[in-house]
Amino acid sequence: MIVAIDGPAGAGKSSVARRLAHHLGFQFLDTGAMYRAITLAALRRHYGAGDADAIADMAQRTSLILHDNRVLLDGFDVTGLIRTSEVAASVYLAADNRRVRERLVHLQREFAEGSDTVTEGRDQGTVAFPHAECKIYLTASPEERATRRHTELQARGEQISWEEVLRQINDRDRRDMQREFGPLRRADDAIDVCTDGLSTEQVIVRLESIVRERQ
Ligand code: C5P
Repeated sequence: MIVAIDGPAGAGKSSVARRLAHHLGFQFLDTGAMYRAITLAALRRHYGAGDADAIADMAQRTSLILHDNRVLLDGFDVTGLIRTSEVAASVYLAADNRRVRERLVHLQREFAEGSDTVTEGRDQGTVAFPHAECKIYLTASPEERATRRHTELQARGEQISWEEVLRQINDRDRRDMQREFGPLRRADDAIDVCTDGLSTEQVIVRLESIVRERQ
C-alpha cells in the first residue's frame, strides 16, 4: 500500500508522515530530503540557476540513499546539512529541473517497490504515485507554518526572523505551485487535512483513521 502525503512547506508533513509510518509499520520516504541533498551537492560545486544541464548530469551520477532517517549523499551522511535555510532557499535548483525530477521520481518508485510505504512531498499523489491507495493533502496557514519552521530553525541555532521565515515560505509556495514539472497540486482524489491548531498527535490519529479505512 502507498500512502502519498503532499502539501506546502512547513505543514508538518515530515514529522507526521514519519510517525504515521512507524505506527502503521510502513517504510517512510521523505522526498524533500532528496531535493535538498541534490541542492547541497549543486551548491558545493557552485552551480547556479544557469547550470541546469550540469546539475541534471550530476544528479544522474550521484548516489542517494535514505535509510533509518539518515540521508547519504555519495556515501556521506548529510542529514543535518540539508536542513539549513540556505539549502531551502536554493532548492529550486533541483526542484525546477525536469531531468532531476525524473531521476528522483524513478528512485522514489524503486524505494517503494514491494513494500508498504508512507511517502511525502509535493508530487507524490499526482506524479510519482498516481495510483496510490491513499492520498492526503496536508495544509496549514502560512503564519502557522512560519511559526513552526522558525521554532525549528532557532532550535538549531540559526539567527533568522519570523518575518523572513514567512517570506521564504510564501516564496517557496509560489515556486512550488508554479513550477512547470511536478508542481505542488492537490490530487483530485486526495483527502484534505488542515493542521491549524492541531497537535502532531491529533493529526496522526486523523491520518491513521483515514488510512485504516482504506486498508
Ligand atoms: O519538504 P521539504 O521542505 O523538505 O522540501 C524541500 C523542497 O523540495 C520543497 O520546497 C520543494 O521545492 C521540493 N520538493 C519537490 N518535490 C517533492 C518534495 C520536495 O519539488 N516531492
